[in-house]
Amino acid sequence: MSSTQKSHVYIYAVSMIAAVAGLLFGFDTGIISGALLFIQKDFPISTEMKELIVSSVLLGAMFGALASGHLADKFGRRRLMLIVSSLFIIGTTIASFANHVYIILLGRLFIGLAIGIGSYTAPLYIAEVSPYELRGALVSLNQLAITLGILCSYIINYSFTNIDGSWRWMFGLGLVPAVALSLGMIFLPESPRWLIKQNMTDRAVNVLQKLRNSKNVSHEINEIEKSLKIKQASFREIFAPWIRPVLFLGAMLGFIQQVTGINTIIYYAPTIFQLAGFQNTSSSILATVGIGVVNVLATVFAVYYLDKIGRRPLLLAGLVGMCLSLMGLSIAFHLQSQFAMLRWLAMSCTFTYIICFAFSLGVMLWLVVSEIFPLEVRATAMGVAVFSCWFWNFVVSSTFLTLLNLFGPSQTFLLYAVICVFSFIFCYYKTPETRGVTLEEIEENIRKRYPLRIIGQPITTNLDVPNALDFQTG
Ligand code: BGC
Repeated sequence: MSSTQKSHVYIYAVSMIAAVAGLLFGFDTGIISGALLFIQKDFPISTEMKELIVSSVLLGAMFGALASGHLADKFGRRRLMLIVSSLFIIGTTIASFANHVYIILLGRLFIGLAIGIGSYTAPLYIAEVSPYELRGALVSLNQLAITLGILCSYIINYSFTNIDGSWRWMFGLGLVPAVALSLGMIFLPESPRWLIKQNMTDRAVNVLQKLRNSKNVSHEINEIEKSLKIKQASFREIFAPWIRPVLFLGAMLGFIQQVTGINTIIYYAPTIFQLAGFQNTSSSILATVGIGVVNVLATVFAVYYLDKIGRRPLLLAGLVGMCLSLMGLSIAFHLQSQFAMLRWLAMSCTFTYIICFAFSLGVMLWLVVSEIFPLEVRATAMGVAVFSCWFWNFVVSSTFLTLLNLFGPSQTFLLYAVICVFSFIFCYYKTPETRGVTLEEIEENIRKRYPLRIIGQPITTNLDVPNALDFQTG
């Protein structure tokens, strides 16, 4: 095995361990729909309480994401991942042994905190340890793990359908990956970029030599040091005029990922299938497992092609596919009463929607927000973008059923389709291609105030932007 191959094996192993946080994110957001059915058999709970149990994780995740920036700079990326795994263990234990519904709520809040901080720290950590030519694939392992976690939760929900009291097991199984994450993180190195920021350059050199399986890492160290020397940041720095455009881009991508409707399907697929005319509950749940499977497969496709085809073509093609699928869903529901066969159109559009999301916005949000922020503000700015994602997730998932009641499924899906059109226009004009450049090159382009669309071009390229400094807002 050549030394490059050896370093690739090691970096893949490091990224896969960190991505277990993604698996827990997917598992714990997916398991609740099934667990809830059994919790209500053990404890008489109101509809509001049910909604609260579902949304407690999202609320916890929002707060977790907000605190993450500060915590990641204070404790370092690796130690924060250890804290995340402990929070998962504590929350899962509380929720599975709960003897009162408020205790379940408390456990789910802890899990939410862990998900929020983990959804931020895992991609950040992976991006900072990756060599640039593998960064897309490695960071997207985290999204692949999210989809695997969702699939596991669907399968567990399906298999436990007839076992009473099984909600404790449903939650409790989350302990396995949580403990694995804890043990795995003990052996992983700290991010070299964070070490340099803390003036621990000698340690950073050792870590990078191990990660790259090469003694010759001085160029990479110099680049990181250069990007740090320029200015030391304070919190306010993230609102500095030169950072504002990328901060806006990050927050917008978090918004777009959620308001185009993904979690109406991930969280409510059985309901949608039943509304479309598939009355049998267990076949709706089985079809949901199918959703989980195509979600994973399309993400594998993206992980493979991101660094080859590039981010933008996948993102834009995915948005077009999502928009068409949502329009198909809307038509199927609109004409449902006249043509019963249209339920098959609804089913296939749900599947194509998931495929298109998975290879575009699904991987892209976490990847792009881990790449675009300059090192000095990366931690805080990425926290803002991840917060935006969790906040809009909360808004969409807590309004979906109300929208269904008020406007019906046809108009509700039409609304998400229209949002997709605006999202496409935004992404077309504002999202950069970041394939094949280092994080430091992206940063240098941002400092030069290049328009957002071209901040991902290698700095050696002769950019055709004579008055680049005139672009204030990207
Ligand atoms: C999103 C989640 C979503 C999942 C589906 C993630 O990228 O942030 O909200 O449930 O993808 O695979």
